[in-house]
Amino acid sequence: MTSLDEQARAILRKNDRGGYTVPTDGLYPYQWNWDSAFAAWGFATFDPPRAWAELETLMASQWDDGMVPHIIFHKVDPGYFPGPDVWATHRSPPTSGISQPPVAATLARLIWEMDTEGGHSHMAALFPKLLRWHRWWHETRCTYGPAAITHPWESGRDNCPDWDIGMEGVDGSRAGDYTRRDTGHVDPSMRPRKAEYDRYIAIVQFGVEVGWDQARIVAEGPFLMADPGITFILLRAHEDLAAIGRALNEDVTEIEAWAAQLRSALPTIWNPALGAYDAKNLRTGEFANVLGSGAFLAYLADASNPELEAHLMRVWDAVTYGIPSADPEAEVFDPRRYWRGPTWPVVNALMAIGFRDAGRHDLDARLRRETVELIQKNGFAEYFDPNDATPCGGANFTWTAAIWLTWAGLGLEKAKGAA
Ligand code: SER
Repeated sequence: MTSLDEQARAILRKNDRGGYTVPTDGLYPYQWNWDSAFAAWGFATFDPPRAWAELETLMASQWDDGMVPHIIFHKVDPGYFPGPDVWATHRSPPTSGISQPPVAATLARLIWEMDTEGGHSHMAALFPKLLRWHRWWHETRCTYGPAAITHPWESGRDNCPDWDIGMEGVDGSRAGDYTRRDTGHVDPSMRPRKAEYDRYIAIVQFGVEVGWDQARIVAEGPFLMADPGITFILLRAHEDLAAIGRALNEDVTEIEAWAAQLRSALPTIWNPALGAYDAKNLRTGEFANVLGSGAFLAYLADASNPELEAHLMRVWDAVTYGIPSADPEAEVFDPRRYWRGPTWPVVNALMAIGFRDAGRHDLDARLRRETVELIQKNGFAEYFDPNDATPCGGANFTWTAAIWLTWAGLGLEKAKGAA
């Protein structure tokens, strides 16, 4: 029996398609933005040049306006829908027309710390690209203050209950006939429902109709919500990018100003009725009134408080393994349906970065122990039922393997061997 460390490295190698890594074979056959940044972090533990190559391939598909797309369709694969023909962005290689959580600067900083000397030239070359991407977030997606998303897929937490109120206003009937591929790869009860998919496609069609004009999508598109998850990820990433810039002797005044502006917008996504950060429909000003993992990412940006922590402990104590993606006491909670309840090792790892930086080693140790148990019991799944540890979604998942090597399983097997 090979060790979990070896299995995790083998998953990264097996999902490597040459310069980029697929999230998992079959279900996700392309390069996904935030998955790729986590893959790089994982590679950094045993092959730093390969880690930098992953980030370089990702940033090579940056649009002229600075946007880094959420999917890069390197080689067309009929096993995935919606493919490049549906997105119709007319790029080479083809890409989607939305972005994804900007974790790259945060993870690049960690990778550079692991590869100080060898990484210097890579980091220096990536810096201006990351800067342009962050500027795109600031200018295109932060016009209301907090970070906004124009499609649930942009949040990375596709079908989480946060987006339900915004999705109500999207007319899914215009999506027409299409064949989903995801439900051919994994149990449909672990994936978004058809009504949600129709709306996902309808929002993509709007983007195509306006030629992916981002200003028009924000002004007139069918969906626009403030996302606490991306707000915290971006805030943290701005601060990490500023730290990288300072180490490279770059002028970081602009980045510091974006971070300060974003931090000052946090009160606008605090829902006093909920006692937590909350998603907001920017078309109506209405809060989602939903507690989920997006709010708990506040720890990543050093923006938590005792009221939020009380909620965190309540939802965490209500399950057995990890932090659930939705509130177990809410009616919408569905422990195996993608982002409507399962625990996601990758999100646990992001929260743990925040816990550790805040000196909350108690929270980090508990989350790590529970995540380790999930992986030891049921392998490197995409996500897990937080009540009984059932592995859900895709197997042999890149980012689950990556966070094993960088956080959950770090030093565990060596310690066991020594004991
Ligand atoms: N996560 C989406 C999917 O399931 C796309 O980003 O295909």
